[in-house]
Amino acid sequence: MSDGTGPPHQFRGVTEKRMDRILIRGGNRLNGEIPISGAKNAGLPLMVASLLSDEPLILDYIPHLADISQLAEILGVLGVRIALDGNGGAEAASGRTLILTAREIADTTAPYDLVRKMRASFFVLGPLLARSGKAKVSLPGGCAIGPRPVDFHIKGLEALGATIHLEEGYVIAQANDGLTGGHYRFPHVSVGATENVMMAASLAKGETLLENCAIEPEVTDLAHCLIAMGAKIEGLGTRTLRIEGQPRLHGARHSVLPDRIETGTYAMTVAAVGGEVELVGARKELINAVIPILESMGVHITETNRGVHVSRNGAHLEPVDVTTDPYPGFPTDLQAQLMALVCQAKGVSHITETIFENRFMHVPELARMGADIRVEGQTAIVTGVERLKGAPVMATDLRASVGLVLAGLAAEGETIVNRVYHLDRGFERLEEKLGRCGASIERVKV
Ligand code: UD1
Repeated sequence: MSDGTGPPHQFRGVTEKRMDRILIRGGNRLNGEIPISGAKNAGLPLMVASLLSDEPLILDYIPHLADISQLAEILGVLGVRIALDGNGGAEAASGRTLILTAREIADTTAPYDLVRKMRASFFVLGPLLARSGKAKVSLPGGCAIGPRPVDFHIKGLEALGATIHLEEGYVIAQANDGLTGGHYRFPHVSVGATENVMMAASLAKGETLLENCAIEPEVTDLAHCLIAMGAKIEGLGTRTLRIEGQPRLHGARHSVLPDRIETGTYAMTVAAVGGEVELVGARKELINAVIPILESMGVHITETNRGVHVSRNGAHLEPVDVTTDPYPGFPTDLQAQLMALVCQAKGVSHITETIFENRFMHVPELARMGADIRVEGQTAIVTGVERLKGAPVMATDLRASVGLVLAGLAAEGETIVNRVYHLDRGFERLEEKLGRCGASIERVKV
């Protein structure tokens, strides 16, 4: 275990690999097994939940990612002591155990320099406010995939009695006598706002009713952890949550659920290049929206006692029509990967993005590789080509960048993916996991 003061040493360094590139020689089939990491999008809010208690929160299966390191840094500033336990080294294969203890809140300000790099850091607003009666959090940054406002987070916390105003790029929130239970209906489904307000309501006085909540598995995973910490939450997995606030929450131990976006990404990679891979630790029910689509394209997916087995042999890929939607719909975080996949389908596919406004930035990069894509409003019309051709391309956001890796693995010749730091935010040991299954993929240090 490390000494537990501030972010552990092992976290540093991930963010330093900003200029690295990935070099891919396409065409190899994938055979073998790929371990699936803990979900980034569950790990982040779970780490933030440590702010709600003065006792240790132990989280197992936390992936080694730049976003996790970034959040650890922010939590360190706020007073959370973070220690790594067990096989916590950077090379640990099956995730790491973090022990987060917020004995006291040292600072209620989350500064711009740290928050701007990652939107999920905004989730500290609700817990800080609930625990300390005040919080000052910079408006967030994150991927450049549209405006991504935080109005639902703010209105939800106001419904719990907070007074909130904006000043010089900061959200300044106060609840001098603590938060009180309230009623809020989210105008649209929002994962982060549901998580933020649910955490705050767990420590408010009285009952809170939240309607039109997100039901993404990561939201439910967080709710399970809060319940283990003593929260009273009903309606898990439904759009209506009833939360009976508690005067304090205690420590707990919780295991992060497997990453469904990583699972879907590798399933699509096998679909694109052919072969047979077992995704070890994956949970099939988390990718229910993806399975029928891949099956209709000609991919075989079965559950095994260790995870999910994916195979495609021989035949061409059929085209598909897919629209992204909140869970249980097809995830926007797999849209770029699916687009890369259908670039080589036999026929015309339609992919419609409904969650984010600006999430087609991979289109011009795929076009550099010979893809035939026309964008009409929120829909990309993709006419399959015989074979993509390798090219230098630029990663523009986290999920787009892994879509380009997938395209590079399927393409003929050499692809260089620049700005790999986007990948390091969300995919753990990507080149190692793929390389072990036969992909020709390596990181070039710049
Ligand atoms: C989370 C995920 C992200 C995923 C997204 C949608 C994390 C850390 N990130 O992001 O990977 O792509 O869900 O599944 O879990 N919106 C508003 N006002 C708000 C909040 C959101 O208008 O206050 C809009 C957003 O602009 C977007 C939509 O609601 O159009 C959904 O966003 P949201 O579910 O909040 O995404 P995140 O929680 O940021």
